[in-house]
Formats: sequence, structure tokens, C-alpha cells
Amino acid sequence: MHSPLNPPHLNSHSQNQPFALDPPDENEWEAGPLAIVGGCGHVGLPLALAFAARGRSVDLLDTSAERVALVNAGRMPFHEDDAEPLLAESIQNGRLKATTDASVLEDASAVIVTIGTPVDEYLDPSVGEFDRSLTWLLERVRPGQLLILRSTVFPGMTDRLARQLEERGRGDVDLAYCPERIVQGKSLVELKQLPQLVAGATPSAAKRAAALFRLICPKILYLRPIEAELAKLFCNAYRYINFAIANQFYVMAQHFEADFHKIYQALREDYPRMQSLSRPGFAAGPCLLKDTMQLGAFNHGSFVLGQAAMMVNEGLPYLVVQDLKRAYPLADMTVGILGMAFKPESDDPRSSLSYKLRKVLLLECKRVLCTDPYVPDTGLTPLAEVLDQADLLLVGTPHACYHDLKCRQPIVDITNTIKKSVGATPTAVNQPAELA
Ligand SMILES: NC(=O)c1ccc[n+]([C@@H]2O[C@H](COP(=O)([O-])OP(=O)(O)OC[C@H]3O[C@@H](n4cnc5c(N)ncnc54)[C@H](O)[C@@H]3O)[C@@H](O)[C@H]2O)c1
Repeated sequence: MHSPLNPPHLNSHSQNQPFALDPPDENEWEAGPLAIVGGCGHVGLPLALAFAARGRSVDLLDTSAERVALVNAGRMPFHEDDAEPLLAESIQNGRLKATTDASVLEDASAVIVTIGTPVDEYLDPSVGEFDRSLTWLLERVRPGQLLILRSTVFPGMTDRLARQLEERGRGDVDLAYCPERIVQGKSLVELKQLPQLVAGATPSAAKRAAALFRLICPKILYLRPIEAELAKLFCNAYRYINFAIANQFYVMAQHFEADFHKIYQALREDYPRMQSLSRPGFAAGPCLLKDTMQLGAFNHGSFVLGQAAMMVNEGLPYLVVQDLKRAYPLADMTVGILGMAFKPESDDPRSSLSYKLRKVLLLECKRVLCTDPYVPDTGLTPLAEVLDQADLLLVGTPHACYHDLKCRQPIVDITNTIKKSVGATPTAVNQPAELA
């Protein structure tokens, strides 16, 4: 009996695929340029840089003319550690080119897809746009090309695409899914360190994709497509749930007026089994929530732990503001939010909970000012002005530059990364004497 996701024509080889193939031979990689669709994005561009550093020619196909121009000028459209010098070098030596012109697909030996796969306003996978892009791509792939999906996809997508290729009589295209598991900002380091999951729709696709990735990563792990798709979503959902555990414990401690950070320190000190407990914080970003929700949608709308994690993490800004409201006369105050990126040292504001924090605070405060040294948002206020005008500071994103901040007003920091000596108020419930 075949499940709908494992049609008979794929089962014969893919069931036996995990670790059954010969290890890829580094010399097997094919010459010819690579094309990365969505190549000027957070996943596509660092990947392209890694391949260019190994001597491959890479064409970056992207619909954003602005990003294409930036990349061709040797400038990163977003922060990625150590990427800018490598980008400038790769543009200069001609290995990397960005374009909006799809004709670059024709000459590519491999086409790698890294475009976004968001969820919609109901937290359902927004597959329409991705589907349209893939249908467009299927009309352009040429015989012998290796087509690799690297975007995080809804489970079953690779097998579905394999069926579509077969229905179009395009068995001459090799299809593989090779998910990205890198932490944003550290791609150039982690690509060299982490094993790459490789799932081919056919053994030949798996071998070719493995040989390609073996150029830039140390180890290949073979899975079936559905397994690799689930592995990627499990990875993000697991992290998201872990952040929710810390946040739930924090909220519980606050509720009973216990100092969570003292508990946190005591729990971890000389106690190996609690080292993995995260700090509380505004867990968000472009992937963790949406991939947890994709997994829930895939599992027929039911992912109790993931959905509970969403309620805890997304509910945290409301709870923090409620705590603040009990401790401070917010209606008369200007509150400054420090950090708007979704995580420290990042310039990426996508799905950052600092923005939700601002929205909630706007309903309660006289004024809300937001600042971030990295996020390119014209609505933000320079730090000096925020320090000058705010009555109270709230850490949204604990960028390292805030750790030793000298300021006159209290700082509320649920992550407890700001040095206590500088702010009068390390957590939300402790009311400073001058405002009592
Ligand atoms: N950002 C991460 O850390 C990360 C990590 C692992 C996996 N992922 C997954 O990788 C995928 C891409 O994420 P991202 O953060 O790089 O997104 P991104 O928005 O930074 O990059 C996507 C790029 O694709 C371009 N694009 C959109 N539609 C296009 C089209 N039809 N043709 C050509 N270009 C197009 C956009 O202009 C953009 O430059 C998503 O599925 C995401 O879940 C992201």
C-alpha cells in the first residue's frame, strides 16, 4: 500500500535511500554555472558565496531589482558575518552575478530554489506564490539539469513536484530537496561545519546534489524527501518550543513574584541537564513561528505543543506590558524600545516581536520611541534621542551594544543580559522607588 506522498514510481528507490547511496565523490561535481532562484536573499546569497569561494560560477536570479543592484555593486542587502569582503571579491573575479533576467537559467547545470515560503494571515502556508514560481520554473528547466529545492517547503512538496515533472514528460530533470539549517548571520561558518541533508526524488538526483553540496559542507546525510522536509520543520519547531518553555517559566515566576533569573541561574549552576534551558525573550523571526505553523497545518491542523508554544511566545509582549502597567503609570510615560530586529546582532526585522511590543505599548503609553542600530527602518529614532526623551526603556532585542548602556531611566529587560548596575530595574515587576 502506498501513501499519497510516496507514489509507487518513487517508492522503489526512495524507501531504501537513507544512507544507502555511495558517499559522493568530490570529483564528481559537474562543471557549468549554478543558478540560484531567490539568490539575493538570506539563504541564497550566502550559499552562492560559499560556492563561489570553491570556484563555482553562480548566477543569482532575483525579482528584487534593488537587491540585484546592491549585490552587483558588491554590497550585502542584509548583514551576514564576514560576507561583504567575499561578495566584493566574488563580484570582482566574475564568479558571482545577480540579475532579474531568467535567461541565466538556460546555461545552469544546477538550479537551486531559495525563495520565501511564508504563512498567510491565518498562519496557513501561503503556497500559492511558491507554487506559481515553481510552475514557471518547470516550464524553463532544460534536460539534464539538477533542480534543488532549498526553501523550507510544506511536506510532500518535493514528491508532488516530481510527479508534475513526470506528468510533463520531464523525467530528464533531476530533482532533490536539500534544506537549509543554518543560523541566520553565521552561514559562512556553519555551511562549512554542518552536515547537509540530501533527499533525491531519484537516486541520480541524490547523488548529484550530494556531490554538489560536498564541495562546501563536510558531510552528507541522505533522507527520503518527506523525511528531509519533516526534519527541517522539526528542527525549527523544536527550537520554537524550547524558547516557549523558558518564556512560560518566566511568566509563571513573574505571576508568583519570584525572580526568574535567580531561579534560572540556580537551575543551571553545575547542573548539566539544565544547560539547554533558554533565557526568556521575544522569540520570533521569519522561520520559527511559520515553520511550526506549517507543521501544524501538515498534521491536519493539530500540533498541540507547537500551537501552545505559539500562544506563549506570541503572548509574551502582552504579558510584559501588563506587568509594566502594574508597575508604572504608562499613560503618562514615553517608553523607548531598544532593539527591533528579531534577534541580537541581526538587522532583520521580519516578524520581530519588538514591533508587536510597540503596537501593544502604543495603546497604553503617552509615546513609544523605537531604536535599533542595525535595522533599516525610517520610523526608528536614534538611540541618543530615545535616551534623552524616554522615561522608561524596554529591551526588545538585547544587542550586545546595549549590554553596558549608561542611562538615567530604568531599563526593563526580560532577557537579563543588560548589566544590572546600569539600569534601575532588571525585570518588569520590581518597581523603582522614584515611581512608586
Ligand atoms: N532566513 C533564514 O535564516 C532561513 C533559514 C533556513 C531556511 N529558510 C527558508 O529559506 C527560504 C528563503 O528565506 P529567506 O530568509 O532567504 O528569504 P528572503 O526573503 O531573504 O529571500 C528570498 C529572495 O527571493 C526573491 N524572490 C522572491 N520571489 C522570487 C521569484 N519568483 N523569483 C526570483 N526571486 C524571487 C526575493 O526578492 C528575495 O531576495 C524560506 O523558505 C525560508 O523559510 C530561511
